[in-house]
Amino acid sequence: MERGNHSGCLHPASSGHDFGEEYTGGDAWGGEGTSIFDPVLCELVYTWFCPPGGLVLDPFAGGSVRGIVAAKLGRGYVGVDLRPEQVAANEHQWAEVARAGDGVASVKVSAASARLRFHGCDPDYIRTTCHASCCRSSQRQGGCLVTVHPSEQAAIEQLGGVVEGGLLQPRDGEHGCPFQDADGLCSLHDTEAKPFGCIASPFTLNTNGTLIVRNRYKSLKCYQKNQGMPAYRAFRASIDLIFGENEAQRIIDHLEAGGGDMMATPLPGAASVLLENDRIKHGANVTVTAPRWVVGDSANISALAPGEYDLVFSCPPYGDLEKYSEDPADLSNLDWAEFLVAYRNIVAQAVGLLKPDRFAVFVVGEFRDKQGNYRGLVPETVRAFEDAGAHLYNEAILVTAVGSLPIRVGKAFCSSRKLGKTHQNVLVFVKGSGKKAAQACGEVEVYEQDQTQDVGA
Ligand SMILES: C[S@@+](CC[C@H](N)C(=O)[O-])C[C@H]1O[C@@H](n2cnc3c(N)ncnc32)[C@H](O)[C@@H]1O
Ligand code: SF4
Ligand code: SF4
Repeated sequence: MERGNHSGCLHPASSGHDFGEEYTGGDAWGGEGTSIFDPVLCELVYTWFCPPGGLVLDPFAGGSVRGIVAAKLGRGYVGVDLRPEQVAANEHQWAEVARAGDGVASVKVSAASARLRFHGCDPDYIRTTCHASCCRSSQRQGGCLVTVHPSEQAAIEQLGGVVEGGLLQPRDGEHGCPFQDADGLCSLHDTEAKPFGCIASPFTLNTNGTLIVRNRYKSLKCYQKNQGMPAYRAFRASIDLIFGENEAQRIIDHLEAGGGDMMATPLPGAASVLLENDRIKHGANVTVTAPRWVVGDSANISALAPGEYDLVFSCPPYGDLEKYSEDPADLSNLDWAEFLVAYRNIVAQAVGLLKPDRFAVFVVGEFRDKQGNYRGLVPETVRAFEDAGAHLYNEAILVTAVGSLPIRVGKAFCSSRKLGKTHQNVLVFVKGSGKKAAQACGEVEVYEQDQTQDVGA
């Protein structure tokens, strides 16, 4: 994990100020109580470790980013923070974001993914060979994997389709799409009513906003690694639908000429329909639930935010490194021994509120005591979770920008041999079984870099 200017939550220590002196300001650090949490890290954590539509608990909410990104990704969010002014600011920011909407101006097209090879959907091939298994195998609990956008629902229903929760329902006792005939051919093929959610289906946007071919298409018979057409031609109708004919042609010309990844502009609304369809496919409730912030001391989190949560996600105070308020309950006002007692209690309650077979993610960073020794926040966090009944499952290192760190630490290094720090630790815990927790989180699109430069086919 490597990030540019921002860190997980940009605590002074993690922005390179690593010597325990009073922090006097820095690039992305506001210095006024709220550090900036990385929205990309949020997106990864939610899509990888929280079931779609799941509920997130954040015992040290701080700023609004974790709540806003959760809502945008169809997750419910409850954040607890001691400071009423911070909660008021978060609510204000959410109101602004909710008003602004989320138009997607441009997306990156993955050239490697667009060049994966497929047979192409011609009727003879469907009749004799693939039987359009893409429409048939797309069965999942709650309907087939064909999403019907609200704007398409009336037309589909007029044709006898049944739509529940945005998903097309199979006929009683059958699998797959009800509009598929015995040969596998689509009875809606030449009609306006064919849902965007199946025409555009070979492609999706991954969490980095890159257009890729869905993993599941690589398990179809028509995926032909060394023959066949590149996906951008085999699924030309999808590209046209997402980008419009002119932009689609520009993409194709670029790829045919051997070009690499490129930026392209989807038709107005197309990217958000794609994203919304994905949320439905992954079982998320399409209606965005507003994030909720609760003012209070997380020592009472079980009473303040009762419920059963699908993910615990937070960035706690790093001891007394940053002071958030004068409140005696504020963990940043406690000495290290008191801090650990209060911190362990909050972690224990948060793990108690987590459903079985679910993940918890804490972003933490080491900092130094007055003697310059590391406090051990990372091992203490691991101990607190383990003692609460969760197990360390992953550790990722979030690399933050080096910036002016070498200059700032250079001199002190000679006299102290203290290394500057340009990372934070993303600790992932699991309560129960990691396998079951992963299952609960559903399918995840993994962007595979295809190294074969099989251009010009
Ligand atoms: C590290 S900050 C979170 C920063 C956050 N990552 C962000 O992006 O703004 C920790 C937060 O914990 C809050 N806090 C400290 N002690 C608390 C307590 N006992 N209960 C609830 N919140 C507390 C502080 O007010 C602060 O906003
Ligand atoms: S995507 Fe593949 S399986 Fe589906 S109809 Fe086309 S060729 Fe057949
Ligand atoms: S509408 Fe047609 S193309 Fe879409 S899933 Fe159903 S049968 Fe397949």
